[in-house]
Amino acid sequence: MCNQAPFSGLEDVMLGYIFGQRKVTEVAHAVWKKVVRKGDVVIDATCGNGFDTLAMLRLVADENSCRGHVYAMDVQKEALESTSFLLDRSVSAGERKLVELYAMCHTKMEELVHIGDVIRLVAFNLGYLPGGDKTLKTLPDTTLLALEAATRVVAPGGSLISVVCYLGHSGGREEFKTVESFAAGLPIDGWTCCKLQTVNRPLAPVLVLLYRK
Ligand SMILES: C[S@@+](CC[C@H](N)C(=O)[O-])C[C@H]1O[C@@H](n2cnc3c(N)ncnc32)[C@H](O)[C@@H]1O
Repeated sequence: MCNQAPFSGLEDVMLGYIFGQRKVTEVAHAVWKKVVRKGDVVIDATCGNGFDTLAMLRLVADENSCRGHVYAMDVQKEALESTSFLLDRSVSAGERKLVELYAMCHTKMEELVHIGDVIRLVAFNLGYLPGGDKTLKTLPDTTLLALEAATRVVAPGGSLISVVCYLGHSGGREEFKTVESFAAGLPIDGWTCCKLQTVNRPLAPVLVLLYRK
């Protein structure tokens, strides 16, 4: 369930984005903050170097009651090691236990979800691992299957699928079009879908948000 207005915090980040001083990933994190609560269960579908996983953990971690959980996945061992390293040096042992890392394709995310899990957020940060092998990247066909899976796992009543698309690499624009057309096809009675795009920087990353009402 989305926190009610005023949407404090988000306004500053949005203005920063409009004025060219904040990145779209920062806007994504600020939006997550308005949807996710302590104790929630969330999925990082592309954990990469772990920055999104860490941001998600900070939103859900309720160490006192051991509630809150992050399922994070990546197809590359290198990415999982990088995420694990970042978490180990950034959070307490108690918080670290709330994250589970999986070497798997995000098309299979439903296999991780337990009965009773209320999934508040599924986040995708598409493309390749920064600093890694640029040929190992997300692909339109599997991204589409993973988005379909994400729509099945997120809880009704206020949850989010957040997708950052990169247009600068080969296949990136096609992948963005796949995401955009999937979002455009979701029924308006259950979903609000929007995108944030800098129109005079054609290669700038685009944030697509699918909000389940
Ligand atoms: C842009 S990076 C993610 C950045 C990351 N969220 C962070 O905060 O550092 C994209 C990641 O997606 C991963 N990836 C590619 N195909 C995937 C798939 N089918 N399932 C899960 N992860 C995949 C890549 O290995 C890469 O690490």
